[in-house]
Amino acid sequence: MGGGHSKISTGRKRDKFGLSADRVIKSYEIAAGLENVDAIGLSMHIGSQVFEVSAFEKAFQKLPELVKTLRDQGHTVSRLDIGGGFPIQYSDESLLDLKAYAEWVRDIIVPLETEIIMEPGRFLVGNAGGLLTRVISVKETDEIDFLITDGAMNDLIRPTLYDAFHEIEAVKSPATSKTYSVTGPVCESGDMFGHDRSLPDMTAGDLCLIKSAGAYGFCMASNYNSRVLPAEILVYGEKYQLIRPRQTLEDIINVEKVPEWVENL
Ligand SMILES: Cc1ncc(COP(=O)(O)O)c(C=O)c1O
Repeated sequence: MGGGHSKISTGRKRDKFGLSADRVIKSYEIAAGLENVDAIGLSMHIGSQVFEVSAFEKAFQKLPELVKTLRDQGHTVSRLDIGGGFPIQYSDESLLDLKAYAEWVRDIIVPLETEIIMEPGRFLVGNAGGLLTRVISVKETDEIDFLITDGAMNDLIRPTLYDAFHEIEAVKSPATSKTYSVTGPVCESGDMFGHDRSLPDMTAGDLCLIKSAGAYGFCMASNYNSRVLPAEILVYGEKYQLIRPRQTLEDIINVEKVPEWVENL
């Protein structure tokens, strides 16, 4: 139903998530017959980066009737998880009217007299994190200049996975401005942080910040291409601290086991 991009939408009929109201009722019936399962509530998440605030109202409106049906059948609905979906600003997107959202929670969800859970994950941390990369080299072609950084799609996969836009800033003052496609060094054409970005004239060794990487960044990172996971640094005003050291190649290799029958081949 919601979701700013097809790959982060969850509520459509052909998405793998969710159950129709009929199946929710059926699931409660099945659960009631199970000795070790107590069905106590419903969970709803209509998608991420939901820009149309009315999508939440539409979704909430489905709950009172469903809750009533379940309760009339003798089931317990003591908890409602109303999910996440609040968008953050990756570029100049307008933010949600959260006052309207709060009013719908007050008017539609609160009267159902349940515990209420919310999961606005990205909204809390997305804009708070950045991926700091260092330029390895600048590759000039007839069409476009590529800025190749030591960060790559394995560190922040959102641009590759969802064509997501992340602002990119140089950590130096613009002397002259140039246009670059900013990429990682991984063996994939999709290993790209952004096309046609205006940045100062960059050279190897310069730092580049990929912004708004605080959600779906590190937690989606992988060791693809045997690349080690980046270090994580917590910054608070003037204070900063390494809270997770950079992985080493040994960390990756040491967990691998060679079967005896391979060693003896
Ligand atoms: C069940 C559930 N709750 C909350 C979230 C977080 O949503 P957001 O991406 O808006 O932070 C997700 C994200 O996929 C989810 O699947």
